[in-house]
Amino acid sequence: MRAEWIGHAAWLIEGKDKIAIDPFIVGNPKTERKPSSVHCDIVVVTHGHSDHLGDAVEIAKKNDATVCAIYEIAEYLESQGVKTEPMNKGGSVKVKSTRVRLVEAVHSGDYLPPKGAKVSGGAACGAVVESGKTVYHAGDTALFSDMKLIGQLYRPDLALLPIGDRYTMGPREAGWAAAFVEAPMTVPMHYSTWPAIEADPFEFEEHCRKKGYKGEVTILNPGESMKF
Ligand code: NI
Ligand code: MN
Repeated sequence: MRAEWIGHAAWLIEGKDKIAIDPFIVGNPKTERKPSSVHCDIVVVTHGHSDHLGDAVEIAKKNDATVCAIYEIAEYLESQGVKTEPMNKGGSVKVKSTRVRLVEAVHSGDYLPPKGAKVSGGAACGAVVESGKTVYHAGDTALFSDMKLIGQLYRPDLALLPIGDRYTMGPREAGWAAAFVEAPMTVPMHYSTWPAIEADPFEFEEHCRKKGYKGEVTILNPGESMKF
């Protein structure tokens, strides 16, 4: 399978289907892409903050893609004319040849957005996407010990973890997370998009080693792809 880090928490996963996760393109300083250059069958939105919901509406409509998201966000997207699979934490749906699960994330999001806002309420989630191989995208989250459970239940081949601190885990907490999940490959994300979340991915790698994480830490530049 192939995974492209568009930048921030935005990914394009190519397995049995093409899946865009948290497609924040317009306003993302780490990508030159336009939403029209994102081709996918499925969109997964972990939560309603604008740096994750991003361009989900435009991308889903243009590709006739289904968006998998927590119930409240799906409701908002349906009102925008988008095809959705409403779901919630702990559950999964199958779209085409891909199974999408929402899992726990410790983060805000459960609020009522102002009318007309381009953000949506609904609790923040992580996502486990199985499309041949399995990817765990942790969304925005603090460290929590049930990441161990996510690792044991779903055996992800690839873990995508936020390390930018302030709004999510920092490098130290994310090192613990990598050791909890125990995916054979881990990639840091959601850092250095803006000065407020500046972080050093090599510091993250050091913390992974300190915690005894035995998998591979792959540090990508935005726009780069990897095989797994
Ligand atoms: Ni957020
Ligand atoms: Mn975020």
